[in-house]
Amino acid sequence: MTEFSFIHRYEPATDQGRPPLLLLHGTGGDENDLINLGRMVSPGSALLSPRGKILENGMPRFFRRLAEGVFDEEDVRFRANELADFVAEARDAYGLGAPIALGFSNGANIAAAMLMLRPEALAGAALLRAMIPLSDAPKVDLTGKRVLMVSGQMDPIIPTENSARLATSLAASGADVQHETLPTGHGLSQTDLQLLVKWFAESRK
Ligand code: MLT
Repeated sequence: MTEFSFIHRYEPATDQGRPPLLLLHGTGGDENDLINLGRMVSPGSALLSPRGKILENGMPRFFRRLAEGVFDEEDVRFRANELADFVAEARDAYGLGAPIALGFSNGANIAAAMLMLRPEALAGAALLRAMIPLSDAPKVDLTGKRVLMVSGQMDPIIPTENSARLATSLAASGADVQHETLPTGHGLSQTDLQLLVKWFAESRK
């Protein structure tokens, strides 16, 4: 049996026309959190859902932070590479193509870091409530990768200026970015779901 580097859940595809999804939970979540969301937004996709390895007061996360919205960037770099290595491992073991990340909050932030540091690991990304994960990201070519960002106008954690800058920088790297800002906070809404369903329907192979 393959030894994997992350605790995770895996569900094989039932529709080969749908891309595999890499599900990345928020702070305090785990590998079970986004399974239903993944099934809803891209029915039939293979689902790969790891659990973040950092524990903050018992709450799993994908990288360390110094305070809310203040990241330990050395750890962001290390963890983004570690997660990209896991994706390669899982692709090999399960016979998958490059996945599209679907990340919420801390999970969206590690997905954004992976796009910047290990772009080959992801075919694209849906980033829910993401912020800039690295203050000086290397130059990267994201041509051909679709990115959906959904932000909250009243998000108490993420200034709208910050998410707008992330969208601009991903687009400047060549990604095909759709950025929507909803009249909501950090939590997800029905409109997030509708946007995701529509965007993933356009990702069918
Ligand atoms: C983070 O730490 O990634 C962000 O502050 C979002 C969160 O997880 O609360």
